[in-house]
Amino acid sequence: MNFAGASILSVDQFERADIEKIFAVADKMEPYAKRQLVTRVLEGAILGNMFFEPSTRTRVSFGCAFNLLGGEVRETTGFKSSAIAKGESLYDTARVLSGYSDVICMRHPESGSVGEFAAASRVPVVNGGDGANEHPSQALLDLYTIQKEVGRSLDGLRIAMIGDLKFGRTVHSLIRLLKLYRNIHVVLVSPAELSMPESYIEEMRLAGHSVEVSNELTDGIGSVDIVYSTRIQEERFESQEEADLYRGRFRLNQQIYTKYCQPNTVIMHPLPRDSRSGANELDNDLNQNPNLAIFRQADNGVLVRMALFALILDVADQVDKSAREVNWYHRRT
Ligand code: NCD
Repeated sequence: MNFAGASILSVDQFERADIEKIFAVADKMEPYAKRQLVTRVLEGAILGNMFFEPSTRTRVSFGCAFNLLGGEVRETTGFKSSAIAKGESLYDTARVLSGYSDVICMRHPESGSVGEFAAASRVPVVNGGDGANEHPSQALLDLYTIQKEVGRSLDGLRIAMIGDLKFGRTVHSLIRLLKLYRNIHVVLVSPAELSMPESYIEEMRLAGHSVEVSNELTDGIGSVDIVYSTRIQEERFESQEEADLYRGRFRLNQQIYTKYCQPNTVIMHPLPRDSRSGANELDNDLNQNPNLAIFRQADNGVLVRMALFALILDVADQVDKSAREVNWYHRRT
């Protein structure tokens, strides 16, 4: 695909070569993300960061990524602080905000809303999550992390996706991205009521991959390279009581890991993990487990989002031109 000026709304836009390109640019971003070098390649550019649903990582890492490339960030969070609370349409908001920004990142609770916004926007839009639909930048950073963690080609990968596979947009985008590789084996572990929508499973099978569906955590995690755990998406349920029925159903802790997983199985989660006692899908006792990749995964979000901005604003090959060393104390790892 041609990245320059493109909106990133769905993982369906990508071919394997596009993903390789994003990852190659992401690799080059490491010294900047680690604050060893600074670049001003996006000096003068403005990111409009519009988040209408709670977010920590996605919002802040999009903002940091843009800042690290030398650009400025303007933000609006929640409906209450935006004119949408006064009845403004997505169309009008998009027309206005795209006059103030060079690229916009947006998260919104409704499926398809970010696409609708992008159609009215005068600048590229990156989908930071639209309801239960898609979260393409998360899927890219997940795949980037998987590749780094397993240290070999993604072909032949075995992955278990666990938890709320019905409403979880990260697993929806990730499974569709994995479709582009060869001979993938996916184990889907969820309560029957929260299973992965059939259309995603069909697409995988049609593309020649194998998909296994299970309601038992211990069945699913024994023979995979990656265990990808997810949170019950309580905000998408009709009531809290309904969400509570499923909370805490599939808990991974060190004891279960030691007993059932292979010693090198990598543990991932898009975060936030729900650390309240009734949930705890990834127990804190895994924190010292070297295969717990969740914080490396979150760090990788900055690299991948820097790469997306550099490609969309067409400066990927100019990043190093304005590079200089930093002169403040910086972390070395
Ligand atoms: C996810 C999301 O918002 O879809 N979080 C994230 O962006 N890292 C997952 C979640 O909220 O459970």
